[in-house]
Amino acid sequence: MRFDVLTLFPQMFAGYLSHSLLAKAIEKRLVDVQLHDIRDWAKGKHNKVDDRPFGGGPGMVMMVEPVVECVEAIRPLAEPPGRLIQLTPQGRRLDQSIVEELSGEERLILLCGRYEGFDERVSEILQPDAISVGDYVLNGGEVAAMVIVDAVIRHVPGVLGDEESSKQDSFSGEQRHLEWAQYTRPREYRGHVVPDVLMSGNHEQIAAWRAEQGRLRTEARERGEMKNEE
Ligand code: ADE
Repeated sequence: MRFDVLTLFPQMFAGYLSHSLLAKAIEKRLVDVQLHDIRDWAKGKHNKVDDRPFGGGPGMVMMVEPVVECVEAIRPLAEPPGRLIQLTPQGRRLDQSIVEELSGEERLILLCGRYEGFDERVSEILQPDAISVGDYVLNGGEVAAMVIVDAVIRHVPGVLGDEESSKQDSFSGEQRHLEWAQYTRPREYRGHVVPDVLMSGNHEQIAAWRAEQGRLRTEARERGEMKNEE
């Protein structure tokens, strides 16, 4: 699967791309992440990519020309043309079903904004899918793009050691429950002990206990969410 990330800050991705699961997936050529600096498409000798909003107001707006021309230049670099996603707090809120939907694409083009957002004509001309990673405002779309890459690659075959394991993720599949409590050694720490059932070797009892734990956690979280909405 190929990701093209369009950003004013490609350096932000260096650490992320060189670690852990993603680095291994890139090495195995299961995933390809290409970074593109929108500033390379800036016009004029000052390489300007943002300007003051017409009508006044605070902040700067990303200019339409470099963004549109960057996308138009990037699209033909690979097949297929890919799905264009604009990261913005105004977008559709990302959840596991959107992640799964995106993982069915061969190529995603992720457009990261900075400043107060994009000139509206970027959306009019390019008609991207707008996605938000949550109802809060980040300083830009870069971290949001990393969230998408991170969640989506878990569904690319071969990226996780065991191909089944993304299906067991919380929120995946039909059972959108939270995961049960997990423990590893030591068996006792500061008086906190691992539940006996996990040491019993009885797989049926362990499965039943875990199912119950998952259910309780899901219910507790749902109660918490309702509290927030009050
Ligand atoms: N850019 C700024 N805030 C964002 C958010 N919440 N989601 C996606 N992109 C963003």
